Amino acid sequence: MARKRITLKDPGRFIDPANLTWERYVALQARERERYLTERAAIPHDALDYKNVSPRYLQNAIDQFANNYYSELSATHYVATAAANAPFDELKKSALFQLADEQRHLEMDREVFERARIPEGDWLAAWESPGTTCRFFRHLLELEDSIEILVKGNFVAEGAAGPGTFTVLADGAEARGDVLSAVNHRARIRDETRHISYGRALVKALIEDDPSNVDTIQQWQDDSLQLFSEVARGGARREWWEGFLASYYKIALPMGLRPTTF
Ligand SMILES: [Fe+2]
Ligand SMILES: [Fe+2]
Repeated sequence: MARKRITLKDPGRFIDPANLTWERYVALQARERERYLTERAAIPHDALDYKNVSPRYLQNAIDQFANNYYSELSATHYVATAAANAPFDELKKSALFQLADEQRHLEMDREVFERARIPEGDWLAAWESPGTTCRFFRHLLELEDSIEILVKGNFVAEGAAGPGTFTVLADGAEARGDVLSAVNHRARIRDETRHISYGRALVKALIEDDPSNVDTIQQWQDDSLQLFSEVARGGARREWWEGFLASYYKIALPMGLRPTTF
Protein backbone atom coordinates (compact mmCIF):
# COMPACT_ATOMS: atom_id res chain seq x y z
CA MET A 1 0.00 0.00 0.00
CA ALA A 2 1.36 3.43 -0.95
CA ARG A 3 2.11 5.56 2.07
CA LYS A 4 0.03 8.68 2.54
CA ARG A 5 2.08 11.81 1.89
CA ILE A 6 1.44 15.38 2.82
CA THR A 7 3.40 18.41 1.73
CA LEU A 8 3.78 22.01 2.75
CA LYS A 9 2.41 23.92 -0.24
CA ASP A 10 3.78 27.13 1.20
CA PRO A 11 7.23 26.30 2.67
CA GLY A 12 7.47 29.89 3.96
CA ARG A 13 5.15 28.79 6.79
CA PHE A 14 7.95 26.78 8.37
CA ILE A 15 10.50 28.83 10.28
CA ASP A 16 13.21 27.24 12.44
CA PRO A 17 12.17 28.31 15.96
CA ALA A 18 15.79 28.16 17.18
CA ASN A 19 16.80 30.55 14.40
CA LEU A 20 20.08 28.72 13.91
CA THR A 21 22.79 29.40 11.40
CA TRP A 22 25.91 27.26 11.09
CA GLU A 23 27.79 29.91 13.07
CA ARG A 24 25.25 29.91 15.91
CA TYR A 25 24.92 26.16 15.92
CA VAL A 26 28.66 25.58 16.29
CA ALA A 27 28.85 28.11 19.13
CA LEU A 28 25.87 26.51 20.87
CA GLN A 29 27.34 23.03 20.59
CA ALA A 30 30.70 24.22 21.91
CA ARG A 31 28.94 25.58 25.01
CA GLU A 32 26.96 22.36 25.48
CA ARG A 33 30.12 20.28 25.15
CA GLU A 34 31.91 22.44 27.72
CA ARG A 35 29.02 22.01 30.13
CA TYR A 36 28.87 18.26 29.55
CA LEU A 37 32.60 17.76 30.05
CA THR A 38 32.48 19.72 33.30
CA GLU A 39 29.63 17.60 34.64
CA ARG A 40 31.28 14.40 33.52
CA ALA A 41 34.61 15.42 35.07
CA ALA A 42 32.84 15.75 38.43
CA ILE A 43 31.81 12.07 38.43
CA PRO A 44 34.03 10.07 40.83
CA HIS A 45 36.10 7.36 39.14
CA ASP A 46 34.37 4.47 40.87
CA ALA A 47 30.98 5.74 39.80
CA LEU A 48 32.21 6.25 36.23
CA ASP A 49 33.35 2.63 36.19
CA TYR A 50 30.02 1.36 37.51
CA LYS A 51 31.56 0.11 40.74
CA ASN A 52 28.72 1.52 42.89
CA VAL A 53 25.81 -0.16 41.17
CA SER A 54 24.43 -3.56 42.06
CA PRO A 55 24.88 -6.44 39.58
CA ARG A 56 21.10 -6.64 39.58
CA TYR A 57 20.86 -3.03 38.44
CA LEU A 58 23.10 -3.71 35.46
CA GLN A 59 21.14 -6.81 34.54
CA ASN A 60 17.91 -4.81 34.47
CA ALA A 61 19.48 -1.73 32.94
CA ILE A 62 20.67 -3.45 29.74
CA ASP A 63 17.26 -2.94 28.13
CA GLN A 64 17.30 0.71 29.08
CA PHE A 65 20.84 1.19 27.79
CA ALA A 66 19.75 -0.45 24.53
CA ASN A 67 16.69 1.82 24.33
CA ASN A 68 18.98 4.82 24.69
CA TYR A 69 21.81 3.74 22.44
CA TYR A 70 19.81 2.26 19.58
CA SER A 71 17.26 5.03 19.46
CA GLU A 72 20.11 7.52 19.05
CA LEU A 73 21.78 5.26 16.49
CA SER A 74 18.48 5.00 14.62
CA ALA A 75 18.09 8.78 14.77
CA THR A 76 21.45 9.27 13.02
CA HIS A 77 20.01 7.22 10.15
CA TYR A 78 16.42 8.42 9.86
CA VAL A 79 17.31 12.08 10.39
CA ALA A 80 19.96 11.73 7.66
CA THR A 81 17.24 10.40 5.35
CA ALA A 82 14.97 13.30 6.33
CA ALA A 83 17.75 15.79 5.56
CA ALA A 84 18.62 14.14 2.25
CA ASN A 85 14.99 14.12 1.09
CA ALA A 86 13.95 17.44 2.65
CA PRO A 87 11.48 19.23 0.36
CA PHE A 88 12.84 22.69 1.23
CA ASP A 89 16.08 24.11 2.59
CA GLU A 90 14.87 25.50 5.92
CA LEU A 91 13.75 22.01 6.93
CA LYS A 92 16.96 20.44 5.63
CA LYS A 93 19.01 22.82 7.77
CA SER A 94 17.13 21.90 10.97
CA ALA A 95 17.56 18.21 10.17
CA LEU A 96 21.29 18.56 9.54
CA PHE A 97 21.87 20.26 12.89
CA GLN A 98 19.81 17.56 14.56
CA LEU A 99 21.91 14.90 12.86
CA ALA A 100 25.05 16.29 14.52
CA ASP A 101 23.26 16.34 17.91
CA GLU A 102 22.16 12.73 17.60
CA GLN A 103 25.69 11.62 16.73
CA ARG A 104 26.88 13.22 19.97
CA HIS A 105 24.11 11.49 21.97
CA LEU A 106 24.98 8.19 20.36
CA GLU A 107 28.59 8.46 21.49
CA MET A 108 27.52 9.30 25.07
CA ASP A 109 25.33 6.21 25.19
CA ARG A 110 28.02 4.01 23.72
CA GLU A 111 30.26 5.00 26.59
CA VAL A 112 27.65 3.80 29.10
CA PHE A 113 27.64 0.31 27.59
CA GLU A 114 31.42 0.24 27.49
CA ARG A 115 32.03 1.53 31.01
CA ALA A 116 29.45 -0.87 32.41
CA ARG A 117 31.46 -3.59 30.60
CA ILE A 118 28.49 -5.06 28.82
CA PRO A 119 29.88 -7.18 25.96
CA GLU A 120 29.00 -5.64 22.61
CA GLY A 121 27.60 -8.98 21.46
CA ASP A 122 24.75 -8.60 23.99
CA TRP A 123 23.61 -5.13 22.97
CA LEU A 124 21.54 -5.94 19.94
CA ALA A 125 19.80 -8.91 21.57
CA ALA A 126 18.73 -6.61 24.42
CA TRP A 127 17.33 -4.13 21.91
CA GLU A 128 15.46 -6.78 19.98
CA SER A 129 13.90 -8.36 23.04
CA PRO A 130 10.22 -7.65 23.78
CA GLY A 131 9.30 -4.48 25.66
CA THR A 132 11.81 -2.11 24.05
CA THR A 133 11.30 0.78 21.63
CA CYS A 134 12.85 -1.31 18.81
CA ARG A 135 9.60 -1.82 16.86
CA PHE A 136 8.97 1.90 16.59
CA PHE A 137 12.48 2.78 15.46
CA ARG A 138 12.65 -0.06 12.93
CA HIS A 139 9.47 1.35 11.43
CA LEU A 140 10.99 4.84 11.25
CA LEU A 141 14.06 3.46 9.49
CA GLU A 142 11.90 2.12 6.67
CA LEU A 143 10.43 5.54 5.86
CA GLU A 144 11.71 7.82 3.12
CA ASP A 145 9.42 10.83 3.28
CA SER A 146 11.00 13.66 5.31
CA ILE A 147 7.71 15.05 6.59
CA GLU A 148 6.48 11.66 7.82
CA ILE A 149 9.86 10.92 9.45
CA LEU A 150 10.02 14.25 11.26
CA VAL A 151 6.39 14.21 12.39
CA LYS A 152 6.74 10.68 13.80
CA GLY A 153 10.32 11.00 15.06
CA ASN A 154 10.43 14.55 16.38
CA PHE A 155 6.87 15.59 17.09
CA VAL A 156 5.50 12.26 18.36
CA ALA A 157 8.48 10.29 19.69
CA GLU A 158 10.66 13.10 20.97
CA GLY A 159 7.63 15.15 21.99
CA ALA A 160 6.68 12.20 24.17
CA ALA A 161 10.15 11.20 25.31
CA GLY A 162 11.32 14.56 26.46
CA PRO A 163 11.89 16.49 28.51
CA GLY A 164 9.71 14.82 31.21
CA THR A 165 10.81 11.24 30.70
CA PHE A 166 14.50 12.13 30.51
CA THR A 167 14.16 13.65 33.95
CA VAL A 168 12.51 10.46 35.24
CA LEU A 169 15.29 8.37 33.66
CA ALA A 170 18.03 10.64 35.02
CA ASP A 171 16.64 10.62 38.56
CA GLY A 172 16.07 6.86 38.49
CA ALA A 173 19.62 6.17 37.27
CA GLU A 174 21.17 8.52 39.79
CA ALA A 175 19.27 6.97 42.71
CA ARG A 176 20.84 3.62 41.77
CA GLY A 177 24.38 4.94 41.51
CA ASP A 178 24.42 5.24 37.71
CA VAL A 179 25.67 8.81 37.59
CA LEU A 180 26.96 8.66 34.00
CA SER A 181 23.51 7.82 32.63
CA ALA A 182 22.03 10.62 34.72
CA VAL A 183 24.54 13.16 33.37
CA ASN A 184 23.92 11.92 29.81
CA HIS A 185 20.14 12.17 30.09
CA ARG A 186 20.34 15.69 31.48
CA ALA A 187 22.81 16.71 28.78
CA ARG A 188 20.54 15.72 25.91
CA ILE A 189 17.40 17.42 27.22
CA ARG A 190 18.18 20.81 25.63
CA ASP A 191 18.94 19.28 22.22
CA GLU A 192 15.83 17.12 22.31
CA THR A 193 13.78 20.17 23.29
CA ARG A 194 15.06 21.92 20.16
CA HIS A 195 14.20 18.90 18.00
CA ILE A 196 10.69 18.88 19.44
CA SER A 197 10.28 22.63 18.79
CA TYR A 198 10.98 22.36 15.12
CA GLY A 199 8.81 19.21 14.88
CA ARG A 200 6.04 21.26 16.45
CA ALA A 201 6.64 24.18 14.10
CA LEU A 202 6.40 21.74 11.19
CA VAL A 203 3.09 20.25 12.40
CA LYS A 204 1.64 23.70 13.01
CA ALA A 205 2.68 24.83 9.52
CA LEU A 206 1.20 21.68 7.94
CA ILE A 207 -2.16 22.18 9.65
CA GLU A 208 -2.29 25.88 8.81
CA ASP A 209 -1.37 25.07 5.22
CA ASP A 210 -4.24 22.58 4.93
CA PRO A 211 -6.48 21.75 7.92
CA SER A 212 -7.21 18.29 6.50
CA ASN A 213 -3.55 17.37 7.11
CA VAL A 214 -4.54 16.81 10.73
CA ASP A 215 -6.15 13.49 9.72
CA THR A 216 -2.89 12.13 8.32
CA ILE A 217 -0.96 13.38 11.33
CA GLN A 218 -3.51 11.68 13.61
CA GLN A 219 -2.90 8.43 11.74
CA TRP A 220 0.87 8.84 12.09
CA GLN A 221 0.45 9.53 15.82
CA ASP A 222 -1.73 6.44 16.28
CA ASP A 223 0.73 4.23 14.35
CA SER A 224 3.64 5.53 16.39
CA LEU A 225 2.07 5.27 19.83
CA GLN A 226 0.80 1.75 19.08
CA LEU A 227 4.34 0.70 18.26
CA PHE A 228 5.57 2.28 21.48
CA SER A 229 2.85 0.85 23.69
CA GLU A 230 4.55 -2.51 24.01
CA VAL A 231 7.16 -0.83 26.20
CA ALA A 232 4.51 -0.35 28.87
CA ARG A 233 2.95 -3.77 28.53
CA GLY A 234 3.04 -5.93 31.61
CA GLY A 235 3.05 -2.97 33.97
CA ALA A 236 6.80 -2.38 34.00
CA ARG A 237 7.90 1.18 33.21
CA ARG A 238 4.42 2.43 34.13
CA GLU A 239 5.73 5.74 35.41
CA TRP A 240 7.81 6.18 32.26
CA TRP A 241 4.85 5.43 29.98
CA GLU A 242 2.51 7.80 31.76
CA GLY A 243 5.04 10.63 31.62
CA PHE A 244 5.61 9.76 27.97
CA LEU A 245 1.96 10.12 26.99
CA ALA A 246 1.45 13.20 29.17
CA SER A 247 4.39 15.03 27.55
CA TYR A 248 3.11 14.22 24.12
CA TYR A 249 -0.52 15.15 24.66
CA LYS A 250 0.56 18.46 26.13
CA ILE A 251 1.81 19.48 22.67
CA ALA A 252 -0.55 17.41 20.51
CA LEU A 253 -4.01 18.18 21.89
CA PRO A 254 -3.71 21.96 21.38
CA MET A 255 -3.03 21.20 17.68
CA GLY A 256 -6.43 19.50 17.38
CA LEU A 257 -5.14 15.92 17.69
CA ARG A 258 -7.02 13.37 19.80
CA PRO A 259 -5.63 10.85 22.29
CA THR A 260 -4.86 7.47 20.73
CA THR A 261 -7.01 4.54 21.80
CA PHE A 262 -5.07 1.38 22.65
FE1 LIG B 1 19.06 12.22 20.78
FE1 LIG C 1 16.65 14.15 19.16
